[in-house]
Amino acid sequence: MRVFVTGASGHIASAVIPELLSAGHAVTGLARSDRAAAAVQSLGADVRRGDLDDLDGLGAAASEADGVIHLAFKHEEQHSGDLAGAVAADLRAIEAMGAALMGSAKPFVGTCATGALALAGHQGQLTEHDVRPAGPRIDAENTVIALAEQAVRSSVVRLPPTVHSLGRYGFASDLIPIARAKGVAGYLGDGNNRWPSADARDVGRLYGLALESAPAGSRLHAVAEEGIPLRDIATVIGRRLGVPTAPITAEDAEQHFGYLRGFVALDNPTSSQLTRDTLGWTPTRPGLISDLDDEHNFAVEVNTPSAG
Ligand SMILES: NC(=O)c1ccc[n+]([C@@H]2O[C@H](COP(=O)([O-])OP(=O)(O)OC[C@H]3O[C@@H](n4cnc5c(N)ncnc54)[C@H](OP(=O)(O)O)[C@@H]3O)[C@@H](O)[C@H]2O)c1
Repeated sequence: MRVFVTGASGHIASAVIPELLSAGHAVTGLARSDRAAAAVQSLGADVRRGDLDDLDGLGAAASEADGVIHLAFKHEEQHSGDLAGAVAADLRAIEAMGAALMGSAKPFVGTCATGALALAGHQGQLTEHDVRPAGPRIDAENTVIALAEQAVRSSVVRLPPTVHSLGRYGFASDLIPIARAKGVAGYLGDGNNRWPSADARDVGRLYGLALESAPAGSRLHAVAEEGIPLRDIATVIGRRLGVPTAPITAEDAEQHFGYLRGFVALDNPTSSQLTRDTLGWTPTRPGLISDLDDEHNFAVEVNTPSAG
């Protein structure tokens, strides 16, 4: 299959693209800069230059491909406070690619976040059956799923907030410079609220399986570990940085955690049983805590900004 991958220069794609190539697929990756193009080429994929806002270009790329995996997201806008703008751009891109695929029976694998469901009000363990009618990123998820009614074999992979590999840990990465700057590895309340997690290489395998065989309209959970208490993550960070691990009060949370404040409060335990049963996906890589607990991750120059 010739697969068009957006976000091809990003962290998740660095695991997805090798997985696709090793399964015998050909990959065309979207790149908006020379740096991104070089990253895509270094993975062994072909490059298509373009931007998420070039809707005609996205539509053309989707119609020329046998399948699409959509990973791009405007994290720069999100981190600078314009989540609404990033979310709207994501939705427009999905609509453009979806329109090009309608009636084709081709696979379109979209991306959402388990945390988006919790932020939209879901409480308790999240399963693949749980849906929300609307919300940031949820509108995009529901739009992808609705393409199944238009003869697109659409599916959505919900990612946990801490996809990890290669020294990147999703939101857990962002807690490291915060702890260094504040002199405290913090958590909220008793720190028993949980984030699910998965190694990016296991995630890459799931995207490949979704592309090849997910039933139309599937919501899938790329979750290897159902929920890791925030206090355990903070404890590793505190020990490695040599700073205390301590609770942060609700009043100080905004100042301490900045844009991560809402996420640090999330309790987001997430099952992936249905995903495993449907696609035969079995994560095999080490867990978040053992991956994070490595001195190289705490060198000053290492803290790469996350996705989320
Ligand atoms: N990593 C996680 O733990 C995690 C957790 C939950 C959800 N997610 C979601 O998973 C997806 C992939 O995440 P990631 O970790 O791979 O993110 P990432 O490493 O930040 O990569 C984002 C990708 O989007 C591209 N992009 C950004 N703005 C663009 C634009 N205007 N036009 C074209 N491309 C653009 C980036 O290109 P450049 O290289 O040019 O910047 C990059 O390839 C995103 O939807 C993310 O929100 C990730």
